[in-house]
Amino acid sequence: MEDLKQTFLDEIKSVEGLVDLSNLKIKYLGKKGIITAQLKKLSSIPPADRALFGKKINDIKQFMETEIDVLESRLKGEELKRQLLSDSIDVTLSGKFVSFGREHPINKTLSEITDIFVRMGFSVEEGPEIELDYYNFEALNIPKDHPARDMQDTFYVSPDIVLRTHTSPVQVRVMEKRKPPVRFIAPGKVYRCDADVTHTPMFHQIEGLMVDKGINFSNLKGVLVTFLHHMFGPDTPVRFRPSFFPFTEPSAEIDIGCIICNSSGCRVCKNSGWLEILGAGMVNPRVFEHVGYDPEEYSGFAFGMGIERIAMLKYSIDDIRLFYENDIRFLRQF
Ligand code: DAH
Repeated sequence: MEDLKQTFLDEIKSVEGLVDLSNLKIKYLGKKGIITAQLKKLSSIPPADRALFGKKINDIKQFMETEIDVLESRLKGEELKRQLLSDSIDVTLSGKFVSFGREHPINKTLSEITDIFVRMGFSVEEGPEIELDYYNFEALNIPKDHPARDMQDTFYVSPDIVLRTHTSPVQVRVMEKRKPPVRFIAPGKVYRCDADVTHTPMFHQIEGLMVDKGINFSNLKGVLVTFLHHMFGPDTPVRFRPSFFPFTEPSAEIDIGCIICNSSGCRVCKNSGWLEILGAGMVNPRVFEHVGYDPEEYSGFAFGMGIERIAMLKYSIDDIRLFYENDIRFLRQF
């Protein structure tokens, strides 16, 4: 027994890895191993010696198991350490660049304008970009031979169908399906056959309409001055000028003090100190007649503005075409 133990100790000393150890374990403790063979001998040993022999065999078995377990966990620990060292992550390597998208400056301006009106209780409506001549012109009191049609260089799809030249047709579409009171804005794309540094064939407008009993010009003024002060700052000067639109009477154009030169006169405001920002007016009773509202009972105001122009002023952009060239260097600035 003592020889066996000594041989085992010599052999375990020369174990170099987990494979060696596993082989050693099989050699001594496996089904056909040396210890197992000794245990099988028990039955052939005279009963008087059996207990002592059995105890010795079991002691040595236990001794071997413990030795093997201890060495196994040591070897496993060493192996793990080796693996961790060779697998180590180089945290100084540069990572993969993740590039984030950004809101387009037109959408950004649009959301800002929309937010201000939504806080004043306006809902948001939409209408089609391919529009009937009826909604784009006729119902807005612009008959076929009306000179106001010249102001809007129209793309005709057919004699009765146009690409909408403004968002005003949404006024008619909403009033047709809803009874007053109404209070909404209608943002969207519009189209005119025109192209230079301040005009593109497609651009964006926001329309606004508020109709109820007793709506008057003071309400128009209050809502629009509030909007302009939120959009451009509370101290921005605002001016109303008489104007003409077939669908409003009276009509006004609304200017703000030039935000580029602080009203002192520059190239952008053409030395006037003022920037034209909005068209507006009291809804023409003729428009109400087209949608079946009684102009004796209801009144309202409407307004419209171009988003590109506002975005250009806000971000000091001097060429409208930059918005649609998709030059990433331009878009990254917003
Ligand atoms: N639709 C006009 C245009 O595109 C802008 C406008 C002016 C809209 C006055 C309005 C308004 O609702 O009342 O030139």
